[in-house]
Amino acid sequence: MLSERERKLIKEFGLETLENISFPVPHKFVSRGIFIAVRGIDEFKRMLRGEPFYILTGIMPSYKLIHLGTYAIVESVKYFQRFSRITIIAIADIESLSTRNIPLDKAREYALNYHIPTYLALGMDPEKTLFYFQSENPDILKIAGDVSRKTTFSELKAIYGDITPGRVVSSLIQIGDILFPQFSLDMMGLVPIGLDQDPHMRLCRDYIRRTDFYNFKQVASIYVRLIPGLDGSEKMSKSDPQNSIFLPEDDYKALRRKIWRAFSGGRPTIEEHRKYGADVEIDVPYRLLTYILDDEDKWLELGEKYKKGEILSGEMKNITYQILTEFMNKFKSHLDYYRDLVLNGKINLIKSAEDLKSFV
Ligand code: TRP
Repeated sequence: MLSERERKLIKEFGLETLENISFPVPHKFVSRGIFIAVRGIDEFKRMLRGEPFYILTGIMPSYKLIHLGTYAIVESVKYFQRFSRITIIAIADIESLSTRNIPLDKAREYALNYHIPTYLALGMDPEKTLFYFQSENPDILKIAGDVSRKTTFSELKAIYGDITPGRVVSSLIQIGDILFPQFSLDMMGLVPIGLDQDPHMRLCRDYIRRTDFYNFKQVASIYVRLIPGLDGSEKMSKSDPQNSIFLPEDDYKALRRKIWRAFSGGRPTIEEHRKYGADVEIDVPYRLLTYILDDEDKWLELGEKYKKGEILSGEMKNITYQILTEFMNKFKSHLDYYRDLVLNGKINLIKSAEDLKSFV
């Protein structure tokens, strides 16, 4: 179910919800409402019907630790990878320089040691996934230059509210990210992101409509509901370690304590809980399971029993801890392998649209 805030943003941004979309392949994120909205519903429907498209999304390598929230995006990309021709991941090192003060060499180190290996260890297809650093790709600069020519300051202000030079740079570059694959691929693009990234998509789609610089095909974005902070706050954030679960988390005792402290939708006393049951919409442990537990029947059964008060809040925390450690063990068993692969230069690291051609 959509939260108040999500409903409000979807309306305010003019996005489409996914209630009337039939997805050709089932997935836990489809049945559990994790895909919350789309911009560019017509293009999106055509993609689901089999028209060719690429996927592009980006990560800011602004810190070495990555939290579970990233998993929601990676899992979404994995889902759409079955329909798409190719997936491209922008390592947003210019954005983390201009908006987060991260030197380019640090960003590179974080990306190669942590971000890229994490994406692959979470199951992204290494054959169908290409990575690039913004700082190494001149094609995105060409587009950013043209976007600047076609955009006014007041438009940027209207879209972003408060604007700084750093934000202007990163937003023009982000449009470069989203569109540069089309210099080599004559197809639409799909961008899986969180709702906070929608302003860039508005600017990008408007730009496509009015530029004569290149005959870009339209792009669509799909919005993924992000994993909440352990305290029940809107989303997990690396700047709040106590409320985040990191990938990996090595100290399982500490992990257990984190889950144990997580915001619960259970009732204050056992009697009340047995009588009224839990509120699963706000229960953080259950919401974590909504993302990571693959078994649909088990997920539904746990939800039903919890809502009826048959499962207590502490029991739900234990179950979540178990399932999370299984998830973590599996993730960790892949991580070193992919880190070696990345550090030995055996992944697809590209530098321009030209480099894309040999992969499609
Ligand atoms: N701005 C995004 C963030 O803050 C990262 C990003 C950079 C991105 N380029 C992108 C996302 C292109 C989607 C598409 O996380």
